[in-house]
Amino acid sequence: MTSLGTTFDASRRFANKRLHLGVCGSVACYKALDLLRAWRRLDIHVSATLTDAAQRFVTPMLFESLGAVPVYRGMFAPGEDVFAHLEPGQCAQAMVVAPASADALARLAHGAASDMLSAQALAFGGPLVVAPAMNPRMWAHPAVQANAALLRERGARLVTPDCGEAACGDTGYGRLAEPSEIFLAALRALSPQDMAGRRVLVTLGPTREPWDGFRFWSNPSSGLMGAAIAVCAFLRGAEVTAVCGPCGAELLPRDVTRHSVCRAKEMFEAARDVWPQMDMGVFAAAVADFSPQYIGAEKFKKNGSPDGFSIDFHLNPDILQTLARTRNPGQKVLGFAAETAPDMQALLPLARAKLKSKKTDLMAANRVNDRSGGFCAPTNSMVVVDAHGREELWPLQNKADVAWDLCSWLLQL
Ligand code: CTP
Repeated sequence: MTSLGTTFDASRRFANKRLHLGVCGSVACYKALDLLRAWRRLDIHVSATLTDAAQRFVTPMLFESLGAVPVYRGMFAPGEDVFAHLEPGQCAQAMVVAPASADALARLAHGAASDMLSAQALAFGGPLVVAPAMNPRMWAHPAVQANAALLRERGARLVTPDCGEAACGDTGYGRLAEPSEIFLAALRALSPQDMAGRRVLVTLGPTREPWDGFRFWSNPSSGLMGAAIAVCAFLRGAEVTAVCGPCGAELLPRDVTRHSVCRAKEMFEAARDVWPQMDMGVFAAAVADFSPQYIGAEKFKKNGSPDGFSIDFHLNPDILQTLARTRNPGQKVLGFAAETAPDMQALLPLARAKLKSKKTDLMAANRVNDRSGGFCAPTNSMVVVDAHGREELWPLQNKADVAWDLCSWLLQL
């Protein structure tokens, strides 16, 4: 089964949800298959409608083979139920049209019901996600832009095209957005919007502390846990700002505002600048506590110090501790604790101590000496403690689902 490289590719949160996928005629039709497979991998039930034009590019059988049930072909296709145009509205919790042609945008915007897909969309009351794909000049045309604006105004979520070379050779905005963006937009449409209106800061990834122009002191953090939190908050409707070290930013959807930094000091400054506007802060970055003395912009030569050399380290700002101490009333803070501990029980006092010393509302601790969790692993088992004395030991779960449970806990505080 395919994965799209998002932090939610293996989440169990969406199992048994129901999604309806509309596919229009476009060279990008084949990408709808990757989307179908990725949603099926999460055990989302997917039904699909292929317009007549889509069926010139791909076949209903291909969608059926990859797990779409049912696949609607056309309003008057042989064997189609007479009320098939109402079924997605009765069964699905979200509808995605990807790729959406210029013609489909016009039909959806103006309430046409002349084919199966537009009739189904008209009879669908749930969240609608539309991902257009077409020639760049067509996308730029005022008529198409007006239709897109109309759909947006009515609450549809547009995953607008990317810039690049279209199949015809023209360059500009028109290519279907990255499947990972459409995949997540659909998960967002299937998620409770219980973080809507919240502004959430997330620090994530490692920091790199240079000691010459080309080498640095760092740690193996992939940024995955922090990115999973950022994505989770985005899915649940929050406005997310991420301050990212050198790894992890690539895991964020385009709607997450990001500040890319390298050193702990830069991460501190970027987080400090946005913190007053935030409702919640999640400090998941693996910040280097110390920075080596900077020897110079040149590459340090081995023959300059044939017997080795010593280097001084100075303490970096503690981002979490500083911002938690200077927070406004109502701002909630979640910290992480990376610890070496023989077992989960031994983590508990360490988590409690860090909760207290960092003055957080919630502290999630994990054992970095356990290979199944911590740095780079897709999963984590955690000890979570809060300032009210609630304490839980969580078994191994993928990081997206850990992120989901942490956001739920944060919301209750
Ligand atoms: N943290 C931070 N700035 C630092 C160091 C840590 O914001 N300079 C944050 C981390 O993002 C994490 C929490 O503090 O949320 C705990 O980080 P951790 O590495 O577990 O602990 P340290 O504070 O570095 O202390 P120690 O290494 O001594 O355990």
